[in-house]
Amino acid sequence: MKREEDEKDRLVAKTMSGLEGVLERELKACGAKETKILKRAVSFVGDKEVIYRANYSCRTAIAILKPIYHFKAENKEELYDKLYALKWDKYLNIESTFAIDSIVSGDLFSHSLYVSQLCKDALVDNFRDTYNVRPSVNRSQPDIRFTLRIVENECSVLIDSSGDSLYRRGYRVKHGEANLNEVLAAGMILLSGWHGECNFYDPMCGSGTLGIEAAMISQNIPAGFYREKYGFMNWKDFDAELWKKVKTEADDEISESEIEIFSSDIMSMAVDSAKRNAENARLHHDIQFDSIAFQHMEFPEKKGIIFLNPPYGERMPLEDVRNFYKSIGDTMKNRCKGYDVWIISSGKDSTKSIGLRPSSRYTLFNGSIECTFAKFEIFEGKRKEFLSERNA
Ligand SMILES: C[S@@+](CC[C@H](N)C(=O)[O-])C[C@H]1O[C@@H](n2cnc3c(N)ncnc32)[C@H](O)[C@@H]1O
Repeated sequence: MKREEDEKDRLVAKTMSGLEGVLERELKACGAKETKILKRAVSFVGDKEVIYRANYSCRTAIAILKPIYHFKAENKEELYDKLYALKWDKYLNIESTFAIDSIVSGDLFSHSLYVSQLCKDALVDNFRDTYNVRPSVNRSQPDIRFTLRIVENECSVLIDSSGDSLYRRGYRVKHGEANLNEVLAAGMILLSGWHGECNFYDPMCGSGTLGIEAAMISQNIPAGFYREKYGFMNWKDFDAELWKKVKTEADDEISESEIEIFSSDIMSMAVDSAKRNAENARLHHDIQFDSIAFQHMEFPEKKGIIFLNPPYGERMPLEDVRNFYKSIGDTMKNRCKGYDVWIISSGKDSTKSIGLRPSSRYTLFNGSIECTFAKFEIFEGKRKEFLSERNA
């Protein structure tokens, strides 16, 4: 039985709902020990090397936080006093900029903005009383980010080793109208079990996120390969030699891939954006681009996997949504025989209108939109599983 204190000292990797299991596997591959799945997060035990490696390699982590301080507080005076008592100068210098975010639950403290402000005051007062000067707040690009987490009277301060969210891979120069978050795109691919075994199709590619993440996975390109900065680089104990070792080891695993990746879209402007992003990732020679409707595509006999991220139809009349998704289902039946097709969609009507029975399904969130991520195995012959729900 672990002591309660041990639990609190565990590192926390944040992710998106539904990707916790994938992240746990990724963390273990980075050397994390005693992993435990939480809501939209995985806690684990690991040293500095594991922190660096997880930041660089985990495709489904949004941020990796290290707890630095725990205490109990029953009211705002006690909260301020205990936050004031933290040795903040162990973590930042007077010249450093900082930001504080709070997550609160329970009846004692209910306003996260208020407690963030209180925490900022405690930090600033502590510096002013000790050094006569204070570090400045920078909300968008701070050197050091802290999170204050309060559950009832249990309070923790965590320091963010990632800095900017890890979904900011560093390759995106073009945004689509509804581009997938990179963490979600990579998580979908890893959830499907694909690691580059067969050809990959993203026929509604928008700004190209799925194709680029697929190319990175198939060539073992670390998630952070295009990124230059991490929060831990501003930590007082930053070990530049260790970071270099971690990065070199991961980069040495990059390998060529034989498989082909196809990114296409009905809108040529979207294809242009996808190309620009791929160029920025130096992956434009590894992805084939085309401007074509999914319904007109020819899928060769050489088997592959198809990922579809169609528009969700929030702005389409319901009848058009049904027809659109029916045409997707018909195309799958007629043109994608032998392929596995994964679709992320929201709304019962769209999923039902596809007219095929999924062999597995997950619930994921694209931003705040609840989505179904479903797998359809399109058999070559007339198999029972192939019968549409409409006809069943
Ligand atoms: C939700 S966006 C895809 C976003 C993309 N995954 C990304 O990360 O940027 C849907 C895309 O489907 C495309 N689309 C809509 N109907 C299509 C069709 N029939 N065939 C091919 N693409 C289509 C749209 O042009 C749009 O770019």
